[in-house]
Amino acid sequence: MRKRLKRLSLLLVFTLFAAMLAACSSGAGGSGSGVDVGIVLPTKDEPRWVQDEERFKAALDDSDYTTEILFSQGSSAKEKENVETLISKGIDVLIICPQDGDAAASAVEAAKKEGITVIAYDRLITNTDAVDYYVTFDSVAVGAAQGQYLIDQASGTDVPLYLYAGAATDNNAFLFFEGAWSTLQPKIADGTFKIANSSEAEALKDKAELTRDEMSKILGQVTTNWDPNEAKNKAQTNLTAVGADMKGDISILAPNDGTSRSIADVFASDGDISSYTVTGQDAEKASIQYVIDGKQSMTVFKDVRTLVTDAMGMAISILDGDTPETTGSYDNGAVEVKAKQTNVIVVDQENVQKELIDSEYYEASEFTGL
Ligand code: BGC
Repeated sequence: MRKRLKRLSLLLVFTLFAAMLAACSSGAGGSGSGVDVGIVLPTKDEPRWVQDEERFKAALDDSDYTTEILFSQGSSAKEKENVETLISKGIDVLIICPQDGDAAASAVEAAKKEGITVIAYDRLITNTDAVDYYVTFDSVAVGAAQGQYLIDQASGTDVPLYLYAGAATDNNAFLFFEGAWSTLQPKIADGTFKIANSSEAEALKDKAELTRDEMSKILGQVTTNWDPNEAKNKAQTNLTAVGADMKGDISILAPNDGTSRSIADVFASDGDISSYTVTGQDAEKASIQYVIDGKQSMTVFKDVRTLVTDAMGMAISILDGDTPETTGSYDNGAVEVKAKQTNVIVVDQENVQKELIDSEYYEASEFTGL
């Protein structure tokens, strides 16, 4: 009996020791096989986020810190799993672009509980106090630039205006729309444009600033959910529903490049559309080719190299025990999140060479007809 007890307690000591060793090797980053910075991106299915992955990899080439990038493939459940995986690898900083701003709260709360610093990347995580920092482009400026471009290209009055927006689960979709509305609304109110595809926007056309609820109503009608297929179907449905007065020379607010190309294809194939101006954003390669070919009018170039540098710079300050530099803050519904914001550049046929090729963002050989 005594012997058995002794053996049992030896086993217990050994098990405890092994558990302590395991905890150490997956513990705080910077040493051993742990990961210092975990990066979670929304999906590999959109070129925008593959761009971010590539730019992160390029920036991390000669970093002293270890990082790991995981994709959530459009699923908040997978996103949570990714965050848990990274927590178990001992990360100190989490850089995360949420699939769904509200749903990501529980994932970052889990990280926060472990003492991890959370940086929201490009998209804000909403209605939680578990976000420490936000690195982003000026998303309101993106929308304002899209709206201004349509105004600059439009001539005469009563120009049919087709509105499309991003996913309502993405806080950016509201910021883009807010920016676009700020420039377009006065021109809708004064009769330059007439709205072709949203009775909710039409009902609000005299209101300069919309509440989130009002924007939600419009988005409910014109969302693409960031999905090019959904955008295509919506554009087809819209064109089938309108009369001749909503065709001819028209303007289209398309929220990003992926949706812009598919919406443009639908409008281009309608014989009653004589010309269209269509916006975009992201400077995706396929859209740069569309711009060169005159099939997409513009894109808003968001230099992902800067965003990546800002996010990694912030992460490194935190790892080094310093306070990262910020330039302002965003209200996420629960707290004011300290933010670092980057400017954006409008690109069309006029400046595509200068902004994207001469700046070495892309190589000329990636395009034809430059
Ligand atoms: C990003 C855009 C992107 C869109 C769809 C937004 O949050 O800011 O760059 O096109 O999501 O993924």
